[in-house]
Amino acid sequence: MSSLPVDDVQGQQYFDKIIAEDSRIEPSDWMPAGYRKTLTRQVSQHAHSEIIGMQPEANWITRAPSLKRKAILMAKVQDEAGHGLYLYSAAETLGTSRDELVDQLLVGRAKYSSIFNYPARTWADIGAIGWLVDGAAIANQVPLCRASYGPYARSMVRICKEESFHQRQGWEILYELSHGTPAQKQMAQEAINRFYGPALQMFGPPDADSPNSQQSMAWNIKRFTNDELRQRFVDMIVPQAEALGLHFEDPDLKWNEGRGHYDYGELDWDEFKSVIAGEGPCNVQRMQRRRQAFEEGAWVREAAAAYAEKCERIDPNLISA
Ligand code: 3HC
Repeated sequence: MSSLPVDDVQGQQYFDKIIAEDSRIEPSDWMPAGYRKTLTRQVSQHAHSEIIGMQPEANWITRAPSLKRKAILMAKVQDEAGHGLYLYSAAETLGTSRDELVDQLLVGRAKYSSIFNYPARTWADIGAIGWLVDGAAIANQVPLCRASYGPYARSMVRICKEESFHQRQGWEILYELSHGTPAQKQMAQEAINRFYGPALQMFGPPDADSPNSQQSMAWNIKRFTNDELRQRFVDMIVPQAEALGLHFEDPDLKWNEGRGHYDYGELDWDEFKSVIAGEGPCNVQRMQRRRQAFEEGAWVREAAAAYAEKCERIDPNLISA
């Protein structure tokens, strides 16, 4: 006999039915504690990644080579801030406040994507980030538009549309450089040499070392495993690199007729673990900058709260209008 209270038994039955039907769970629905916990973990890590991910590119806004490139890059960095906000809002619907989630990041208890701990050394790196990093993000996130948790899935729809503009702008930067002078082409090649491995690691550890995948797939949060998405991405970027006139410096990268996929070399998983553990080239700098920005933004939060309180007092409809 089940030891769950009746409400929980009924809730579990309803939840199982929704998952079996491949429908959506909404915030007011009953959900297992583990489902809520893993979604809060994944969605908040994703939000933190978007926010920290603004740094390597924001760093290039003042050095963009033309006014047009500067305007495009500013729009892209602002988009990432927006993505962070949608995702914090989606995470909040699971019952943890944004303040608490942000605090987890600032005290170093929350993860964010490994990729953002690498520096953007040249303008070509901005191209490589757009093409490879945002490209990997799209490959990973398009299936999340079908995640079983409604607010997360819906936020991913808009995010993916914007990411696709980001990827195109990265591609276009690299296209210009790879069709420019020999020095520009070399700069583009060196940028993709730097970002190839870390971009593939964005998909997470190999399936055999991914503790969360199996349960997240059973709950229809993840639709594909880390290795499946990584393979899909490799298959996509190899012909794109050829179209750019560039190549990946991976001696094991070759078409496998039998598998119908590209084989690729083993990634440096020791490096991945050390980056996640805080020892990547920019982890310290990224967190210092985030804490500083948070402290410097205190007056904005206070002013917004005071304004909301004033509107509420004068006319509550003002705030919701
Ligand atoms: N960087 C840092 N941590 C990572 C990671 C990465 N690239 N890949 C996996 N991890 C962490 C996981 O978070 C998990 O940590 P935890 O159990 O302590 O929380 C641990 O490593 C084990 O990995 P799993 O494969 O078991 O974890 P998941 O099932 O959660 O899968 C994921 C990892 C594929 C990243 C999944 O969480 C996911 O799809 N998340 C949503 C997308 C996302 O967060 N992307 C981050 C990049 S954001 C971005 O790209 C923005 C853009 O503008 C470029």
